[in-house]
Amino acid sequence: MLEGKKILLGISASIAAYKSAFLVREFIKKGAEVRVIMTPASKDFVTPLTLSTLSKHPVHSEFYSKESENELWNNHVELAMWADYFVVAPATANTISKMVNGTADNLLLATYLSAKCPVYVAPAMDLDMYKHPSTIQNLEQLKSFGNIIIPSVFGELASGLVGEGRLSEPDEIVRFIEADLRSKASLSGKKVLITAGPTYEAIDPVRFIGNHSSGKMGFAVADEAAKLGAEVVLVSGPVSIQTTQASIKRIDVQTAAQMLEACSQHMDYDIAIMSAAVADYRPEETKREKIKKSEDSLSIHLIKNPDILATLGEKKKSGQVLVGFALETENQMENAVKKLISKKANAIILNTPKDTGAGFGVNTNKVYFVIGENNYFESELLPKSEIASFILDHVQTKLMK
Ligand code: PMT
Repeated sequence: MLEGKKILLGISASIAAYKSAFLVREFIKKGAEVRVIMTPASKDFVTPLTLSTLSKHPVHSEFYSKESENELWNNHVELAMWADYFVVAPATANTISKMVNGTADNLLLATYLSAKCPVYVAPAMDLDMYKHPSTIQNLEQLKSFGNIIIPSVFGELASGLVGEGRLSEPDEIVRFIEADLRSKASLSGKKVLITAGPTYEAIDPVRFIGNHSSGKMGFAVADEAAKLGAEVVLVSGPVSIQTTQASIKRIDVQTAAQMLEACSQHMDYDIAIMSAAVADYRPEETKREKIKKSEDSLSIHLIKNPDILATLGEKKKSGQVLVGFALETENQMENAVKKLISKKANAIILNTPKDTGAGFGVNTNKVYFVIGENNYFESELLPKSEIASFILDHVQTKLMK
């Protein structure tokens, strides 16, 4: 959920500020870019040098910073606009109170007032401060502004007392934010089944019938669906690429029959997107030993493989959305519409290797999202990650109620 996201971390003056260094690392481990702003008093608890080294960005705490002879304005509006998410951790009772009242007497608070992105607030204070009616009221007030509170936890406090008010641990803060984002994501609660890559149909122990599919297109769709909060099952033929998100359930198969069997275990999908380049035929017999070179010619008798998309089309229940792909080299639109109808899909993603930069192996694609005769939406040539986003946008807006 945090891959490629820009996180602005605001640190206020609590002893728990030492945990911010770990929090920066946790965010970076998740693939996020992190910038840090601090209240002036928080610098007594953790040094800007530690945080700038970990985040690889300068850390600001004043409205102006001095670089050689020039004074530079640390533009709070720009910082707020930059962020996808603003996380204030630790947030002291004082900072929380000022956030509620719209006080802007330091860079962190001025940036908060300018922020349009989701704001997460992780309070940290002693137990009596945390339980004080004014703190309780202030946290309610922040919630009513749309801010998200990451509750403090029970435990030992800096005062030596034990109770609520302890800053959540950095990994818990990250988990909380990811879970919150997932629950709000557009495919949250949906199960998405995806096929990707080629299938290999064995001729003998060392040879097979296969094709050039790298799996990049299907993996990009899986990645995007997971980012949108879906439960993703990715059934992949033999490929050399990795899934990027731990939440994706990946099932590796070799043959069309195995791919069908794996898909059959997940017929409770909400959306199925069949991007695999499945071999239409397989050798009737797989030789037990390597075929020796002897005659001038060799015939291998092929039989038809099951059609996974058509099988899912036959069994499709009301409310399920089934999307196939079509890789065409001639009569492209006509063939795509034929597949749409014959395989009982809701949409066909047409692509053709005749478009430069589209189809097998490459990192880009150009597609047509076909939902009927003369009824399609055309993408530009884009990175496969953006094509995946184009496909899932259209699935949600054109095919789902
Ligand atoms: O993996 P990449 O290198 O990124 O390349 C991506 C891709 C070019 C493989 C992908 O974009 C694509 O076009 N996939 C479908 C390729 C294909 O086999 O198309 P087709 O027209 O033969 O099949 C039509 C549809 O039926 C497809 O959804 C296919 O998954 C499905 N099918 C086909 C045969 C079969 N036996 N079972 C099937 O389910």
